[in-house]
Amino acid sequence: MKNIVAIYPGSFDPVTNGHLDLIHRGSKLFDKLIVAIARNLDKTATLFSMEERKQMLQAMTSELDNVTVDTFEGLLVSYCIQQNANAVLRGIRAISDYEFELQMALMNRKMEPRVETVFMMPAEQYSYLSSRIVREIAKLGGPLNGLVPKMVEERVRERVAQRYISATGKHLL
Ligand code: PNS
Repeated sequence: MKNIVAIYPGSFDPVTNGHLDLIHRGSKLFDKLIVAIARNLDKTATLFSMEERKQMLQAMTSELDNVTVDTFEGLLVSYCIQQNANAVLRGIRAISDYEFELQMALMNRKMEPRVETVFMMPAEQYSYLSSRIVREIAKLGGPLNGLVPKMVEERVRERVAQRYISATGKHLL
């Protein structure tokens, strides 16, 4: 039997129920799953620091024995080789995800043919969910129930309120 180590990379700013759904599915399929938070140079204005995102992911996956959480910088494929990983796990929610995901998967394979990308679909109720939309709803005071775990919701609301005070000097209603 092969020992399949998979990396599930992403920004996770913040982790959503869709991410957690995929982590649970991945943990059943792979021998080991490393959830890897990427330091993305394009996304300078993140809601949470790398360490905060790592803590939240660790808290939400602590019951899964074969799942660990890590951070990485630089190319994903270099990180995969460093971790002896042979697969990358990515979620596809809708057709709109496919074009970008295909480009990334093929480019990663060109750079590192030893690493295969595996796509999985989250449960249908998460097919319209993303971290970006969670951040936007939170900033506009909308409901987050069912989108992120309770603990993450509290952290998001707290952070959005802090940012609002720093930007305007006023408290959110
Ligand atoms: O959650 P996201 O923002 O969709 O994740 C994108 C991520 C982190 C998987 C992607 O940006 C990535 O792999 N970054 C690492 C840098 C890299 O290897 N870039 C080349 C990809 S072909």
